[in-house]
Amino acid sequence: MRLIILGGPGAGKGTQAQKLCQQLNIPLIGTGDILRQAIIAQTELGQQAQPFVEKGELVPDPTMIEFIRARLLLADAAAGWLLDGYPRTAFQAEELDFLLDDLGQRLNWAIWLEVPEPVLMSRSLARKRPDDQPEIVQRRIDLFYQCTIPIMEYYERRNRLLKINATQPLEKVQQELLEKLHS
Ligand code: AP5
Repeated sequence: MRLIILGGPGAGKGTQAQKLCQQLNIPLIGTGDILRQAIIAQTELGQQAQPFVEKGELVPDPTMIEFIRARLLLADAAAGWLLDGYPRTAFQAEELDFLLDDLGQRLNWAIWLEVPEPVLMSRSLARKRPDDQPEIVQRRIDLFYQCTIPIMEYYERRNRLLKINATQPLEKVQQELLEKLHS
């Protein structure tokens, strides 16, 4: 299965993505976590991403598009994957479609974890990562509404969007997600 999981900061993307990948036996490709690890390791990707991630800004599209292209060409991604945090801009979404066409692959679903803004903020602040300071989280929330919400419309028009009420307890979110994926 080929899935993407979308939602604001603190919507629960990483939490739900881990469980889903274990259940479906597919690799999890979480761009936020990959970038944070790359920054710690100071790889070339990490050095490019650091000034943006630290401020809650989006890493430029060309860097992310090149990274995802290389990652989806690895052997473990041949039979399926879950992308957490990608695409985040309309341009990334279009480029993903081009890439999948090239690879002869098809996206099954884009999952949208819907959570109101105050909950996004409180969950993110409770986590205490370096980029979870109030003003940085606010910038990530603003960019989510500005850049990522239009992507939901992109997938809805293609009948590929699964909306999930992610304010429910973790287990309920997971249950609703699995039911909708298998219906
Ligand atoms: P990224 O890590 O993707 O940040 P984000 O979208 O802001 O998402 P978070 O990781 O903050 O939240 P999450 O939805 O995974 O929530 P979680 O499961 O942890 O990206 C970081 C940065 O990288 C970006 O700012 C950008 O700079 C860069 N970047 C990444 N991808 C990019 C791209 N494609 N293009 C450009 N730049 C990119 O849950 C949060 C908390 O809530 C946890 O403590 C959890 O236990 C709790 N929780 C979860 N679900 C529930 C629930 N149902 N009930 C109660 N608590 C819950």
